[in-house]
Amino acid sequence: MKVTVVGAGAVGASCAEYIAIKNFASEVVILDIKEGYAEGKAMDLMQCASLNGFDTKITGSTSDYSKTANSDICVITSGIPRKPGMTREELIGINAGIVKTVSSSLVAHSPNTIIIVVSNPMDTMTYLVHKTIDLPKNRIIGMGGALDSARFKYRLAEALEAPISDVDGMVIGGHSDKGMVPLTSHATRNSIKVSEFLSEERLNQVAADTKVGGATLTKLLGTSAWYAPGAAVSGLVQAIACDQKKIFPCSTLLDGEYGLSDLCIGVPVILGRNGIEQIVDVPLSNAEKAHMTESAEGVKKTNGLLEL
Ligand code: 2OP
Repeated sequence: MKVTVVGAGAVGASCAEYIAIKNFASEVVILDIKEGYAEGKAMDLMQCASLNGFDTKITGSTSDYSKTANSDICVITSGIPRKPGMTREELIGINAGIVKTVSSSLVAHSPNTIIIVVSNPMDTMTYLVHKTIDLPKNRIIGMGGALDSARFKYRLAEALEAPISDVDGMVIGGHSDKGMVPLTSHATRNSIKVSEFLSEERLNQVAADTKVGGATLTKLLGTSAWYAPGAAVSGLVQAIACDQKKIFPCSTLLDGEYGLSDLCIGVPVILGRNGIEQIVDVPLSNAEKAHMTESAEGVKKTNGLLEL
């Protein structure tokens, strides 16, 4: 199992590290345009192998896509992260050109790969990849909902004063501060609806805190987060690599599902060896349906900024 991670920045390197530590991939290639940077990160990570007990071979490359040839899975993290006060959508001007170039270069060397898009604005970048390269839609996946759901569970556990292992919840919709749709009506504490423990007001606060989870960290860190984004991507990679048939909310190209078409937005999907194996139709409350419609309008507005 060969995995390529484009972008040796904090998110890409964290993703590579988590993949290696989980020890399911034979090879991880990290690629970056900055001279020697990916090679350095790869070497530093390889010097953790004996300490963290993994056999994965991690190598780095400066802009040489031949080193990524025949990758089973390619993760695109390249582009600029946001600064405090910025929205993800403001990154489109720079990141769109990068994602177009990177996706074309990857598929030229790995025509049968599965691509996972992380670069922001992620839903629009995922849509751009569909417009740039000719891969079946089940092989182009946007990662945002897995990260947002992890933040949702963090906030739920905090409100419940419960261990996170007891909490389950999912965030669908756009990966944006206003577009996320935390499914509070489905969230549970060990199979019991969280509404049995939390007031509507407290649940609304959990949802609000979840939606700005990224911005909250960007304000504290001065740049975008990386540990949880890297871990979230590694979970998707593992589900595909190990054919786990796990459900994640992923950004995927819709053609009528959830009443939406011609956009990529976060919905529950089953991930396995073929990438997106099934889009799962989850019953939504009227409020959740309305939020999803608003979210889709926001994603389409950002898509409209693309020069296709
Ligand atoms: C986040 O929400 C980077 O979009 C990513 O942290």
